[in-house]
Amino acid sequence: MDDFLWWRDGVIYQIYPRSFSDSNGDGLGDLLGIISHLDYLKDLGIDAIWLSPFQPTPDKDFGYDISDYVDVDPRFGTLADFARLVAEAHLRGIRIVLDLVLNHTSAQHAWFRESSSSQENLKRDWYIWRDRPNNWQASFGGSAWEYDPVTRQYYLHLFTKEQPDVNWRNREVRKAMLDIFRFWMELGADGFRLDVFNAYFKDANLPDNPPKFGLRAFDRQRHIHDIDQPEMMPFLNELRNLLDSYPERYAVGETYLATLPKTISYCGNDKLHTAFSFDFTSNDLFYPWNPAWLMKRITRHEEAFNGGGIWPTTVMSNHDLPRAASRYSRDEGDAQAKLAMTLLLTLRGTPFLYYGEEIAMRDISLKRGEILDPPGRKYWPIYKGRDGCRSPMQWNDGPHAGFSTTRPWLPVHPNYVRRNVAAQQADPDSMFNFTKNLLKLRKEMPALRRGSFIPLKTPYGTLAYIRQTDDQSVLVRMNFSKSQVNIDQPAADWRVIFSTSEGAQGTLTPYEIQLFLKE
Ligand code: GLC
Repeated sequence: MDDFLWWRDGVIYQIYPRSFSDSNGDGLGDLLGIISHLDYLKDLGIDAIWLSPFQPTPDKDFGYDISDYVDVDPRFGTLADFARLVAEAHLRGIRIVLDLVLNHTSAQHAWFRESSSSQENLKRDWYIWRDRPNNWQASFGGSAWEYDPVTRQYYLHLFTKEQPDVNWRNREVRKAMLDIFRFWMELGADGFRLDVFNAYFKDANLPDNPPKFGLRAFDRQRHIHDIDQPEMMPFLNELRNLLDSYPERYAVGETYLATLPKTISYCGNDKLHTAFSFDFTSNDLFYPWNPAWLMKRITRHEEAFNGGGIWPTTVMSNHDLPRAASRYSRDEGDAQAKLAMTLLLTLRGTPFLYYGEEIAMRDISLKRGEILDPPGRKYWPIYKGRDGCRSPMQWNDGPHAGFSTTRPWLPVHPNYVRRNVAAQQADPDSMFNFTKNLLKLRKEMPALRRGSFIPLKTPYGTLAYIRQTDDQSVLVRMNFSKSQVNIDQPAADWRVIFSTSEGAQGTLTPYEIQLFLKE
């Protein structure tokens, strides 16, 4: 099985550009900073980079409010830097995935400035303007409608009021959006992550959403008119045609509030390649970090994606969520982070690794006055926002963790003195080397990349499954508990190929992870 397809068989590493590496000493990461660490990423063993937005932005949602889709924010570099990044990445066999935030623009985007200049402006219909608001709520709090005193109408925004929603029903808008894909593909982008794409189209009549039980006003309505409209499908067909007119291009969608079946319905040969499911990104009453529950979720996920014939993704962390290591660990130990990494790299699907996950970076905690993220500022202390998982990459134990020569835009986690790339590279038992070794194994073992998934029944506290192709079988076993567990010894023809301890084959020591290959 050597038909390696980068987005299916590879591992995609998400970089939040402002937090990865600062090359010019302004406290913000940038494209040249990323270029300077491409060898690091190559050595780690990833196959593609997804870059969170680096286009010009007034930072009302830290890059997810874009004021020009076809440029680079001068703080992050230039279009020439982007072209260099693509060239340097491609030289190392690394693909580049862009984040396109097309449901809304920044209020500073030229399109919105025109649209909001008068009711008669030719771009008026490029956004959603009404005389009276309906009951829709913004996901970051408050009504989804903002009154514009100049033109005396309300405009729709599903996120902050500085992120007006674009009117995707307008044909010229759709054409302009497709041109954006074309622009970046011409510059060498290999793929796209589509931000909240299933919200592009709203019900044309903008009816009120029906009520339901929930905590925040936003959760007290069923979002049936503001997302998931049927017009999405023909657009996805059109987009796929465009992507397919270039070699090996890819699109992964971020669904907004969608169920698993709905998410999968957007994927296929004439739609998106795949879409995220966030089945493994919680740690609460409904989704506890325990093997029995995890197996239920994995099975549900497997059935849904397999049934739909869609290649899944696996996500443990991203720029919107508390990091997996913070969700599952109570101390500085890496046992839980290693279990999470094993799931990420050995479940069926394309792993998305979030920068710093390879050294089990933890979320920073901020005082109220330090919070930057809009929903955090609004809902503190019930919800503290997403700054926690966006702190600067911890490269070494030097000033500012080697991220920058000056004070970074968000504080570095104080644990950087011990938890950093340089220290972990030197330690064979570190999270970094664990991740690198597992990535290497994944690359060598077709079964881990493409094999089917066979769940196994195992003792309480443990989780095990087989990944199997026609000619290879790999057994993965994990102990989630702090006690030693007796477990059936695999038959004599199973050979250990990876293990976190020297434990015997009939036992799993606390938090042990073992992989076996069938000879
Ligand atoms: C997506 C992004 C998130 C952003 C939101 C609005 O959910 O992942 O960071 O705030 O869309 O663009």
